[in-house]
Amino acid sequence: MTTETRPATPALDPVELRADFPILDQDVHGRPLVYLDSAATSQKPTPVIRAMDDYYRHDNANVHRGIYQLSERATAAYEGARVKVARLIGVRDAHEIVWTRNATESLNLIAYSWGRHHIGRGDVIVLTEMEHHANLVPWQILAQEKDADLEFIPITDDGVLRQDVFEVLLRLKPKLVAFTHVSNMLGTINPVEEMTRRAHEAGALVVIDGAQAVPHMPVDVKAIGCDFYAFSGHKAMGPTGSGVLWGKRELLEAMPPFLGGGDMIREVHLRRSEWNDIPWKFEAGTPDISAAIGLGAAADYLRDLGMDAIRAHEQELVAYALDVLPREVPGIELYGPSAEQRGGVVSFNMPGVHPHDVAQVLDRFGVAIRAGHHCTMPLHERLDLSATARASFGVFNTTADIDALVAALREVQVLFAS
Ligand code: ALA
Repeated sequence: MTTETRPATPALDPVELRADFPILDQDVHGRPLVYLDSAATSQKPTPVIRAMDDYYRHDNANVHRGIYQLSERATAAYEGARVKVARLIGVRDAHEIVWTRNATESLNLIAYSWGRHHIGRGDVIVLTEMEHHANLVPWQILAQEKDADLEFIPITDDGVLRQDVFEVLLRLKPKLVAFTHVSNMLGTINPVEEMTRRAHEAGALVVIDGAQAVPHMPVDVKAIGCDFYAFSGHKAMGPTGSGVLWGKRELLEAMPPFLGGGDMIREVHLRRSEWNDIPWKFEAGTPDISAAIGLGAAADYLRDLGMDAIRAHEQELVAYALDVLPREVPGIELYGPSAEQRGGVVSFNMPGVHPHDVAQVLDRFGVAIRAGHHCTMPLHERLDLSATARASFGVFNTTADIDALVAALREVQVLFAS
């Protein structure tokens, strides 16, 4: 289908969508809640809440174990959710989807299971300066244990990865390159396809942290071409406790288990065991069944809205915020690239006011943002910052929410000027 004949993605109507999110219908300190912290965790639409409620009311039983109707229904819902999530990220073989608790656990799984068998003394792992701690600390632990070397792709002052330095680092023939798809602090969208291609040409495996991408833009892991892709369900309108690791079948099959116990085995003897097939080999013990089912419902909800439409809406919001904030809030410092290169995240500082104080005053106006280092301490160090305030957007946000942010920031200035 050519671009000309493809039907245009219907635009989102954020005002209409608000009705899908029951939590938004409340006042905070006497003001209507303005939720600008979707990068920390997403709010949950009614279909997700209902899917989990239905499961507990009607189908609750353990999966893969019972020869009775409830268990069969629970298993069908649990495995059906895997297919829905696979579809969301362009994967046909749902058995390549491993349920985890969050992106952090997915990345640790790779570091422990793949890393401990493939990384040795002197091997190079390439990361970036903009990684969330979840895609940094597991590799630090691995590198310390194996005496491997960590190298980092630096950022420009605008918060974009230095591709020229990446090129130089690839000459070190790294075994692994791991980077975030979208920075949770700068919002930078990295050129993941191009970076994957270059890493593969240099002989490295590629791990991508997609926690801030999957909920906000079309993601097709097959088109990207990476080897592993991790994300959290709770940022993608699913419940907390739901996470995903996608990996290429041949890699997952060759990897040893991460955790041992029930369900991940085919046979157990007193002194040895045989492992189950993928993905169950990586899912020891009773899983969070309702969380998987909730994430399946979230995947359907996102697909029904249309990932192109979500991206277009959030890009509009971020462009509006980048335009209006410096004009209406004199002295505000913004970090990160232009709207075209960024997801729905705007980190900022108000000179002379600690970001925690900014967030606290904003809360008095019903505006919820995050303040701190956003699990990116090295990135803050690189930018010579101890902390930032961060507004981040979801499908239900409007330009009026950004206007509310602006108005509250002006109150911060008034308060701290006096
Ligand atoms: N990683 C989450 C954030 O960026 C918690 O806020």
